[in-house]
Amino acid sequence: MTWPLGRAVRVRVPATSANLGPGFDCLALAVQLYDELTVEVTRAGLDIDVVGEGAAEVARDESHLVVRALRIAADRLGGQPPGLRLRCSNTIPHGRGLGSSAAAIVAGLLAGRALHPGGRDLSDAELLAIAAEVEGHPDNAAACLLGGVTIAWTEDGAARAVRLEPHPRLAVTLLVPRSALSTHTARGLLPHHVPHAEAARNAGRAALLVHALTAEPALLLAGTQDWLHQSYRAPAMPETAELIARLRARGIAAVVSGAGPSVAAFTELSLAADLPPGWTLHRLSVDIAGAAEIGLFNTSSAPETLRGPS
Ligand SMILES: Nc1ncnc2c1ncn2[C@@H]1O[C@H](COP(=O)(O)OP(=O)(O)OP(=O)(O)O)[C@@H](O)[C@H]1O
Ligand SMILES: [Mg+2]
Repeated sequence: MTWPLGRAVRVRVPATSANLGPGFDCLALAVQLYDELTVEVTRAGLDIDVVGEGAAEVARDESHLVVRALRIAADRLGGQPPGLRLRCSNTIPHGRGLGSSAAAIVAGLLAGRALHPGGRDLSDAELLAIAAEVEGHPDNAAACLLGGVTIAWTEDGAARAVRLEPHPRLAVTLLVPRSALSTHTARGLLPHHVPHAEAARNAGRAALLVHALTAEPALLLAGTQDWLHQSYRAPAMPETAELIARLRARGIAAVVSGAGPSVAAFTELSLAADLPPGWTLHRLSVDIAGAAEIGLFNTSSAPETLRGPS
């Protein structure tokens, strides 16, 4: 398969907040906080430059998540590029429950699809299924790819999702602590069984949450009440749990974002005075568009093609 040498794509991928209280592992929304990156097909090798979030920690080799995802897309489409240059500008904090790993995976898949000569063969549905496979769950990847509010599920082994139009006045404040918490650690705190009555209550609130997010934000406080995960994980993130309890007592619909430890609060009020020391605050709108190619160009004035290793 011939990859166009010098062809480059710029992609923009949003941060996402999953779970949103009772929508455990299925509901998520995208917010206007983005990683942007440019991927170029080069003659040979792998050259990675990262600025912003994660710059001090992320790998600069084949284990870089964007590269791993791009290579998976290339394998599905048939054949790897001869070389790659990657320029990442990250604003999504890592390990805070804001979907940075899903964003990196979606970015790699989108870039691979855009640059590969047969990229059109990879549909959005397949792209989501691959992203969910790499990520281990589909919720963040769905919102990152589609934007807005998403409901994701797995059917016959493949991830699927629908996108809902968020209420136009839906505003999200993210409160982000300085230290990270791995999704793996947070998942380990969940019980194997929950009381049936609590599961039933949770299902009702998840259904209400869909209505609150899309039609009636006044019901978000009731719609974000959860019985499946937040209380079990509280010991791993006491500051997060305490902040959420304080905000909810004031009528503000605050939840753990993803697996934590960030807090997502649905409010137009300023929460600056509530911010614990060392935390950062982002007042954001919901991202409507989802992951996007924002440029496709040739870096060499005389484009040529190379046959990559297959
Ligand atoms: N832009 C990126 N480039 C390369 N690697 C990344 C990038 N974003 C995330 N990663 C990898 O993913 C890890 C973070 O994944 P993790 O799932 O623990 O947190 P998260 O995705 O930020 O939060 P959550 O999954 O709870 O929403 C990082 O430590 C890094 O290895
Ligand atoms: Mg993640």
